[in-house]
Amino acid sequence: MALDKARIALIALLAGVIAGSLLTRYFMRSDSVKLPELPEGFQAFDIPYDNQLTDARITLGKKLFYDPILSADYSMSCSSCHEPALAFSDPRRLPISTGINNHPGFRNAPTLTNVAFHPAFFWDGGAHTLEIQAQSPIEDPEEMGLKIEEAARRLKADDDYVRMSRDAYDREPDPSVIVRALSAFQRTLISTNSRYDDFFYRGNRSALTEEEQKGFQLFNGKAGCYQCHYGQNLTLYGYYNIGLPGAADDPDPGLMRITGSKADRGKFRTPTLRNVALTGPYMHNGSMETLEDVVSHFNKGGVAVSNKTDLMQPLGLTDDEQQAIVAFLKTLTDESFITDSAFRP
Ligand code: HEC
Ligand code: HEC
Repeated sequence: MALDKARIALIALLAGVIAGSLLTRYFMRSDSVKLPELPEGFQAFDIPYDNQLTDARITLGKKLFYDPILSADYSMSCSSCHEPALAFSDPRRLPISTGINNHPGFRNAPTLTNVAFHPAFFWDGGAHTLEIQAQSPIEDPEEMGLKIEEAARRLKADDDYVRMSRDAYDREPDPSVIVRALSAFQRTLISTNSRYDDFFYRGNRSALTEEEQKGFQLFNGKAGCYQCHYGQNLTLYGYYNIGLPGAADDPDPGLMRITGSKADRGKFRTPTLRNVALTGPYMHNGSMETLEDVVSHFNKGGVAVSNKTDLMQPLGLTDDEQQAIVAFLKTLTDESFITDSAFRP
């Protein structure tokens, strides 16, 4: 009897010690889920249930983002076309980014600023999650030109990647690990510290000069930019044909590539304007060099072309007014974003 009691006590003690150590291990794990830090007034974005943000996933994604191992000839990484100092746009400032072997691409490389908030990706919205998007540049012969299974084989032969992949997703590197880790990293690329944010979200009325404030008023008034560029990322994500010069001969079908509908020819997703001063040349085909060119284009109401939206009309802005709008656009630059060491290798 006495022995049984002692035995029960011993078993209880052992069970307690084991449970305690499991619990400690669980809570001490480096992969506890993180929530993105957003300032007051900012709406959150969705994160897929199978790719919650953890330090291990973000770290792996960052390593992959900067590693040319993901391109066929080891010459290009994601950062070759998405450079942090330029808000993750093309450091070569190419109108149309070229890929491996200088292969001509198809479109202008967009900023990745606040990419987590976008409801769809690419200029034509052809991918609906970052996870799906991530496979395209790796496999596209005009970009990195490497089958994703081959990319996974390369990573499996690398001890660091195997360890990091196990830490992050409890498995060896495979295509799903690659696209999820890249997405986790990209969801951390959040910019909310421009002077515009100080002014608009944090109520610091002296954050913008008089001219910049005048530009902001024109943007939201006479110039009508707000009809398409509205909200925390300065876009409502609508698709429009804005009558770019040469649009009639543009080989790029735009939204029609996705829907197959002629009515969607030449329509492109309204881009975010955050950090736009850093991301030229502009438009899906990089056809506009400067912000002055862009504003002058909108002032003219675009060129006549079928499908051009009725929202494009001549605006009658004076030179000073156009200059003020350009000055306002420059307040969307976020120095802390482009210098953040957390985003760099
Ligand atoms: C050769 C240049 C190049 C490389 C390398 C490249 N990209 Fe891109 N990226 C582009 C271009 C061009 C587009 C626009 C394509 C389109 O709209 O059809 C784009 C679009 C994107 C978008 C969509 C952004 C948006 O607002 O819709 C994301 C996200 C992205 N790239 C991430 C990546 C990742 C991750 C990698 C590495 C695996 C990568 N890119 C490698 C040129 C590149
Ligand atoms: C009808 C909707 C609409 C209106 C109004 C509009 N935009 Fe846009 N904007 C777009 C679309 C769509 C694009 C991309 C078009 C393309 O690439 O073919 C764009 C592109 C831009 C770009 C280039 C961004 C980049 O990353 O390449 C800038 C800058 C810009 N708009 C600023 C403005 C300003 C300033 C105004 C007001 C004067 C304005 N927009 C009015 C829809 C609009």
